[in-house]
Amino acid sequence: MKTLETSSIGKAIDRIDGRLKVTGMAKYASEFPVENVVYAQGVTSTIAKGKITSIDVTEAEKQKGVIKVITYKNAEKLKESDEKRPAFTLTSVAPVLQSPEIHYYGQYVACVVAETFEQAQYACRLVKVTYEEDKPDIDLDKNRSKAFKPDDQADYSRGDVDAGMQSSDVTLEATYTTPIEHQHPMELHAAIVSWENGKVKTYASQQILNDAKTAIADTFMISEDNVQIIAAYLGGGFGSKLNVHKHLIMATMASKMIGRPVQITVTRQQMFTNTGMRQFDEQKMRLGANKKGELQALAHHTTSHCATDQMYYEACGNVSKMLYKTPNNAVTHRLIPLNLQVPNSMRAPGEATGSFALESAMDEMAWKLKMDPVEFRIKNDTQRDLGADKPFSSRLLVECLRIGADKFGWSERKMQPRANQNGNWLVGYGVSAASRRAPYRKTSARVIADMRNGEVYATIQMDGTDIGTGSYTIVAQTAAEYLGIPVKNINVELGDSDFPVTPGSGGSWGAASYANGVRVACKNLFSKLKQNAGVAEEDEVALEDLMKSSKVTSYKVVGTAEPSEEYENHSVFSFGANFAEVWVDKDTGMYRIKRMVNVGSAGKILNPKTAYSQIIGGLTMGAGMVIAEQTQVEPHHGNFITRSLADYHVPVNLDLANIDVVFLPEEDKIANEIGVKGIGELGITSVAASIANAIFNATGKRMRDLPITPEKLI
Ligand code: MOS
Repeated sequence: MKTLETSSIGKAIDRIDGRLKVTGMAKYASEFPVENVVYAQGVTSTIAKGKITSIDVTEAEKQKGVIKVITYKNAEKLKESDEKRPAFTLTSVAPVLQSPEIHYYGQYVACVVAETFEQAQYACRLVKVTYEEDKPDIDLDKNRSKAFKPDDQADYSRGDVDAGMQSSDVTLEATYTTPIEHQHPMELHAAIVSWENGKVKTYASQQILNDAKTAIADTFMISEDNVQIIAAYLGGGFGSKLNVHKHLIMATMASKMIGRPVQITVTRQQMFTNTGMRQFDEQKMRLGANKKGELQALAHHTTSHCATDQMYYEACGNVSKMLYKTPNNAVTHRLIPLNLQVPNSMRAPGEATGSFALESAMDEMAWKLKMDPVEFRIKNDTQRDLGADKPFSSRLLVECLRIGADKFGWSERKMQPRANQNGNWLVGYGVSAASRRAPYRKTSARVIADMRNGEVYATIQMDGTDIGTGSYTIVAQTAAEYLGIPVKNINVELGDSDFPVTPGSGGSWGAASYANGVRVACKNLFSKLKQNAGVAEEDEVALEDLMKSSKVTSYKVVGTAEPSEEYENHSVFSFGANFAEVWVDKDTGMYRIKRMVNVGSAGKILNPKTAYSQIIGGLTMGAGMVIAEQTQVEPHHGNFITRSLADYHVPVNLDLANIDVVFLPEEDKIANEIGVKGIGELGITSVAASIANAIFNATGKRMRDLPITPEKLI
């Protein structure tokens, strides 16, 4: 009898899809060979507010290869939201080309369908649109009177912040700003859609297939059963592919209208105005502490913008409700409608930006209190989430800070700015604390076990996606663990909405959800086979023997995992600490990030190699927030000035440092049965603050506005 192999989880194995990817065999949305396919391209508006008065498509339609030009005049009627400014949710409908109204620069006004991509692109330039232009609202400052509270969750308070501030020995009021940023995954947003006999089949670059299915079905007012989405591989998403954007609806509409499969690719330029972005945030912080360094009050007020026709906000203040023990606490979020596309989730929406404000302010307070910033954070640690009024499932923030400080050599830090110099360089050390919700959501998986040549092989099917994070690999490892067979005998099939439903990849819930779904499916397989073979449930029998004794060569079963009551009764977060060393040139303000140390506590790490990559990616994006990333808006016309990757800068290897990543050994069994917590977004969280705080320690200059470009330092 074989014994169960139970050592697959936790191994740093290579990605099982790595070879397919590096050899170009992994197929992305626009790469599937579909017969008879035609190409669609969007035409975008050249005003930010107003109305289309006429569209002349005659010249475009005359061109060779052009099949159809769709505008609001001949478009299919789609479902519109009843509300004037609906919230942007994961399943939001995405009506397009429905009216002559223009809400932002770069909005789709027409869609050209042609035999080739080049023909479509050329004809797009020949579509003549005339507008009646209104003066757009672009400037946040000029529109402050329009600020509104977006929903019931936008405001929160406990205790009395004003009283807490008054009774404090040391107080701080400071405002932090972060710019519009764009997700810009390497793989452009793209899709191939066929509408045939009332059924939609699409290859689309989407992070959450079940939600995308709902969005497409609702937009076209058809049954979800008639929609299938395939997203076998994604070249990144970073939140921009959580939702269905209008190009997918446009291509679906085109396919319905012309009766042929339609391929659409959103250009990099169009991705600035049509596939989401991180909003500009202005965060006003108020902190008060007594002489011992105990926080007495903490307020976090965020003002941001949404679109005039749709609403979204990243909840920057949420981190301030739960991270520290503060009796008096207030959080507000306000939105100002502007003529810009609706912002949406970008990696750690809320935390990435909120932690910059909170963790910078914490550093400022530590400086005012003449306390070490690591000790100041530890002093205000709490094992209870005071915002949600629940205990944390586990919280090892203090351990992250202590171990990180040790590993980094924090004791070498000079508290006084400019005290550490090396030639022309001012050397600074900075720290920040990180926290990110680690949700786990209902997940189903199918396992198909097959006997071949006396060995058991298994296929796992789920509608989950691998957005570049390693989902294929951790699913295979989990299946191998719970089936007791080697990883090489596992075949993983993801990214088909016809497979069992998962919450998809987003919100840092992917790994925990997928792994637990697979766990239950594998357990169910054993139970069923044991029943068939007349073996008692508690007996440990190898899968191979069970298959043999139940006389089956193939067996298929589905399992579903769901969060427990214990999970619901706790606040489930991953925690971390970031340490950075920065060298700033005294004369030019040029600076280099020399070292970064990240310590994370994220439950059981399914695969240290893919997890490490996730954190490195997060740190890189966090560093990008500081050194480079910003989208500039032209203030009169509302067009983005940054319109390509040549002017939207992200860090390259040379910009980065020695990066050290540590995971604390942990299993959070309250979070879920396997004890896994998310890391996809933890890595970016508070990185910006650690670097800005290091810059303060180096120069004595407090940087409250991202990105920190060298001219701000001289
Ligand atoms: Mo994430 S911003 O939920 O992809």
